[in-house]
Amino acid sequence: MYVEMKHINKTFDGFQASRDVSFGVEKGHLAALLGPSGSGKTTILRMIAGLDRPDEGDILIDGKRVNDLPGSKRGIGFVFQNYALFRYMTVADNIAFGLEVQKKRKGEIKSRVEELLELISMKDLGKRFPHQLSGGQRQRVAFARALAPNPQLLLLDEPFAAIDAKVRRELRTWLREMIGRVGVTSIFVTHDQEEAMEVADQVILTNLGRVEQVGTPEEICLSPQTDFVREFIDAKRFEALMGIEKEEA
Ligand SMILES: Nc1ncnc2c1ncn2[C@@H]1O[C@H](COP(=O)(O)OP(=O)(O)OP(=O)(O)O)[C@@H](O)[C@H]1O
Ligand SMILES: [Mg+2]
Repeated sequence: MYVEMKHINKTFDGFQASRDVSFGVEKGHLAALLGPSGSGKTTILRMIAGLDRPDEGDILIDGKRVNDLPGSKRGIGFVFQNYALFRYMTVADNIAFGLEVQKKRKGEIKSRVEELLELISMKDLGKRFPHQLSGGQRQRVAFARALAPNPQLLLLDEPFAAIDAKVRRELRTWLREMIGRVGVTSIFVTHDQEEAMEVADQVILTNLGRVEQVGTPEEICLSPQTDFVREFIDAKRFEALMGIEKEEA
């Protein structure tokens, strides 16, 4: 396992946001944290990123306990919900940001930025500012910016939430392909089950701070293990999505 969460508990002012959370994500896999609003998805992501600290339990990345390691030293890229690009920086400068922080050489930064612009099919848009881009393009820049320092782990919190349905579909297929091509282990948060089922290798289903079930989309949909999972998952939609045909009884 590349990422392991072991018996994590986290309380905010007496409110328990994570309850004995345990799961693992294999190297190179794309995992979805799926669950209703307030079920603790962002809390889990923030603890992996080092933005919050668990009260109890261990977080392992590549076999190493990272509880006491600052987020900046964990080799993580983070893409937030509202893309949060720097408004007064060009696309190229946004992508270069993490590399500037690392004080990389100018030439190295320039070639890495060009490589990433190519990867996100925005080769000629490096000089634009965020307000001159579509929502989908902005999200692609946010993705490139997170990837620039070559993270071993990519965390995405509702990366498509602010984007309309049609573009959102295209973008998640695009993301799936990009992540596969780059080979970076990734965890993304969503409360849209179709999104999780369509792109993830593995789904971690959360409810009331607990992990209800971990499995492939097929396992979750076809063999739900708790009443919550059974109710939460719309198996009919999943069957349609996967082209599974059930014999008439
Ligand atoms: N800093 C905080 N202080 C107090 N309570 C918090 C804090 N962060 C999260 N919580 C609470 O913990 C619970 C889980 O929050 P979290 O943001 O992890 O949910 P989520 O699954 O990401 O929800 P959403 O889908 O709405 O983003 C919520 O009830 C929330 O109010
Ligand atoms: Mg959230």
